[in-house]
Parts: sequence; C-alpha cells; structure tokens
Amino acid sequence: MSSMKARQGPDATIGVVGAGYVGLITAAALALLGHRVICADVNDARVRALRAGQVPFFEPGLAGLLAEHRDRITFTTAPATVFDKAGIVFVTVDTPPLPSGEADLSRVESVVDAIPPGVGPLTLVMKSTVPVGTGATVRRVLDQRGLFRVRYVANPEFLREGSAVQDVTHPDRVIVGCDDPADAVVVAALWAPFGGESMTCDVASAEMIKLASNAFLATKISFVNEIANVCERVGADVEVVARGMGHDHRIGASFLRAGIGYGGSCFPKDVLALMQLAGNSGYRFRLLAAVIEVNELQKRRVVATLREQLGDLRGRRIALLGLAFKPGTDDMREATSVVLAEALAAGGATLVVHDPAVPPSALGLLPAGTVWARGTTEAISGADAAVIVTEWPQYRALLAPGTSAAMARPLLVDGRNLLTRAEAEDAGYQWLGIGQPAARSGEPALVRAG
Ligand code: NAD
Ligand code: UGA
Repeated sequence: MSSMKARQGPDATIGVVGAGYVGLITAAALALLGHRVICADVNDARVRALRAGQVPFFEPGLAGLLAEHRDRITFTTAPATVFDKAGIVFVTVDTPPLPSGEADLSRVESVVDAIPPGVGPLTLVMKSTVPVGTGATVRRVLDQRGLFRVRYVANPEFLREGSAVQDVTHPDRVIVGCDDPADAVVVAALWAPFGGESMTCDVASAEMIKLASNAFLATKISFVNEIANVCERVGADVEVVARGMGHDHRIGASFLRAGIGYGGSCFPKDVLALMQLAGNSGYRFRLLAAVIEVNELQKRRVVATLREQLGDLRGRRIALLGLAFKPGTDDMREATSVVLAEALAAGGATLVVHDPAVPPSALGLLPAGTVWARGTTEAISGADAAVIVTEWPQYRALLAPGTSAAMARPLLVDGRNLLTRAEAEDAGYQWLGIGQPAARSGEPALVRAG
C-alpha cells in the first residue's frame, strides 16, 4: 500500500515513453497540471536536445510550455528507468505503416518488453494509435510474464499538429478504455482539469473510436473533394456549398475544406490501417478504399491542370508554395507537396519550393535539382506557374501590388482556396481554385464575403 501511494498518489511521478509530438505534448500538459514527469526516448540525439531545452520540431506553444515547466520534466534514454520511477506510464511511441498498410507495433512491443519483472502497481496507458485488439494482446503478454499488477488502459489521443497544445488542454472528449472501471478513474482524473466529455468503455471500443474518428474525418475530406470536382464541371462554388452544408448541425462545418488531398502522419496511415484491420477480420471496407483512391487522385489533379494550361511541362519553372502537410507545422510526412513535386519533376518541370516553417534540409525529400527559395516573391520570380500547396496565411502576400508581375506567366493554382478568385484576379493572376466555377460572377463573391 505504501508503494501504491509513492507510485500512484497525487505527488507521484508520471512516465511518458516516446518523446515525439504526442509524447512531448502529453509530458508538457501533465507538467502544466503540476505533475512531475519522466520522459524516455530511444533517440539519444533527441534526448540530448531536449535536455538542452531544444524542441526537435515546430509546434506552436510547445517550446514555451516545456520551458515554463522544465523543472518538473526529466528526460532519459532508458525506458526501463521510467517504469522504476512512475506508477502511471503513457506509451506514445510511433506506430508507422508496414508495407502491407497494417500498423507496425514493434515499438509498442519493445516498450512492453522493457517493463521490469515484478513491477507494480503500474497503470500502462496506451496513447499511440493501435489496431483494435492490441490491448487484448498486450494483456496476454503481461499475464504470461506474471505482470498481474500492471493495469492496461487505452487513452487515444485526438490532437492535431499545429494546434496540439490547445487541443490537449481543451479536449472535446477524453476516451478511457479499460477492463476495470477503477483503472478508468485514475486516468480520467488526470485529464479532468482540462475539461471535455469523459467517456469510459471497453479497450477494443476505445481503440476503434480512434481509428473510426480519423477515418470519418478523412471521409469528409474526400467527400467534399469529390463535390468540388463536380462543382467545377457544373458551375457551382464548393466554398459556398460547404458553408451551406455546414449550417446543418447534423453535418457540421468542419473538415469540409476542399483541397488537393489530406496528408500527414495519421490520416493516410490510420485509414489504411482500419481498412486492413477490417480485411483481416474478413470484411471488405469499400467506402475507405474509395476515400483513399479519391485522395490519391486529388493530389495529382494539379498536374493535369498545369498540363492543360502550360502544355508540355519540360523546362517549365513551377513554384510550390508550402511543403508541410498543413499550416502550423514543419511536418512533411505524407504531404501532398512531395507527391506533386515528384510528378512535376518526372514531367520535366524545374521546381522552386518555399515553406515558412520547413527547413532547407527538406530538399533531401524532394527531387534532385529542386531550388530552395527564401521567400514568396523569390519563389515565384520568373515562374511559369505557382501552386499554393499549403494554406499558410503568409501566402496572402501574393496579393501585394506588383507581386504577380514577378512571374513569367501569372498562373496561380490555389490548391487550398486560400484566396478568392476576385482578389487574385484583381492582383493580376490567372487564378484556378479547387471546386470553383470557371468564370467570375458577382453573386457568389457576395455570398462568400458573408
Ligand atoms: P513521433 O514519431 O513524433 O514520435 C515517436 C517517438 O517515439 C520518437 O521520438 C521515437 O524515437 C520514440 N520511440 C520509438 N520507439 C521507442 C521506444 N521503444 N522507447 C522509447 N521511445 C521510442 O510520433 P507521434 O507523431 O508523436 O505519434 C505517436 C503515436 O501517436 C502514433 O501512434 C500516432 O499515430 C499517434 N498520434 C499522433 C498524432 C499526431 O498528430 N502526431 C495525433 C494523435 C495520435
Ligand atoms: C488528424 C486529426 O485531426 C486529429 O484529431 C488526430 O489526432 C490526428 O490526425 C492523428 O491521429 O494523428 P492532423 O493530421 O494533425 O490531425 O491534422 P488535420 O488538421 O486533421 O489535417 C490532416 C490533413 O487533412 C491535412 O493535410 C489537411 O490539409 C487536410 N484537411 C483537413 C483538408 O484537406 N480539409 C479539411 O477540411 C481539413
């Protein structure tokens, strides 16, 4: 009992294994709540940087939060140390896709293997996104090793990159999956100060809530992208359509922004993982297969648009504005920019790229010969076309008087509808948005302003 108090009482240290996006934000949020946190990562360089006060990626507000609560967070390269010191340990390691599309659980397995014999009491909290059934498998492994004093809780994470600190400290909901409701109380109580709807359920359902939520959001995006493609053919404006649909509270306005496809480390991976999970259970998830296909085609539609406008792409200079998979992050995992760059370079185009957050080292992820620009005007100077790939607000600077004149041909493909046709045309561009009617008309502009 005294050991229970030391390891799991209000003053106890909390462990986090995996110091990536989710791990560092979890650690910072727990420290903000006044807890002492020990955070482990197998990446030595990452731990050294964190000890020196450096955050290994760009996430608004995270560096400040970590700095503010630095005295309560320690970093280690030894996950086993975390289990010695903490009675509640969050697992936040990555679960990347295998070539089959299934999640690679090797990192999760190595964390479970690092739990020392005889440890306890311990609550192991899974925040990594894992296939349904992972909790049951981990339970079996723990039991086989005689680790009966280790409780297992699924506590999926719903944060978005770019707004992660806000999402974790102001959650919509906290899902706690467990076999024993007493375990739920411990985890729900930790997050209670941040508010949000708390829901307790079984482990498998908690695991499915995470996968189904990401798959549903991705479905919304592919749906609106299909609507956009039809809008272009029939003369409607997808921006206006999405707004009109969103006024119905059953549909909701969010995740109806048409564009050139979803990317990032999670939607592509988790949609595929859910489809594979269904397939392995003997069920063919047709809808998700279509969601993925629509997204892949959407990423490539810009290439066809540019060919229509420019003809042969050989020798054409094309500026890609934005490399990150969305604004507010420097993350390029599964970003549309990479797919586009490869397709355009394969067609013989010369690429000039810019992103306000991604470092120039990202050139290594792009085709050989890609040119790095330090600013928007430098990127578009002499270009035959520019594509807004990521809707960084900085790219509204394209509207500054005289800017379009820097281009060899002022063709602007706005892959995220960052601008309106009216303002882009007034600034001198030939503007091609997503899901837009071919010609300018007075009425839609008035509606869109409202
Ligand atoms: P990440 O790649 O940014 O970080 C994972 C970290 O875990 C890395 O620093 C890696 O070195 C470390 N690691 C790997 N194996 C380890 C081990 N055995 N012991 C200790 N550390 C180890 O990943 P992430 O983006 O934070 O994602 C983590 C999990 O959370 C994934 O399952 C992801 O799907 C899920 N998730 C991510 C987000 C997001 O926006 N990034 C949101 C919700 C859920
Ligand atoms: C997404 C989910 O939103 C989070 O809830 C979840 O926790 C996370 O995945 C995860 O599991 O990792 P994230 O990938 O950080 O978060 O970013 P989103 O804001 O969801 O955007 C994902 C992609 O969808 C981006 O490429 C974005 O441009 C695209 N998107 C988003 C659209 O094309 N249209 C939209 O309306 C919204």
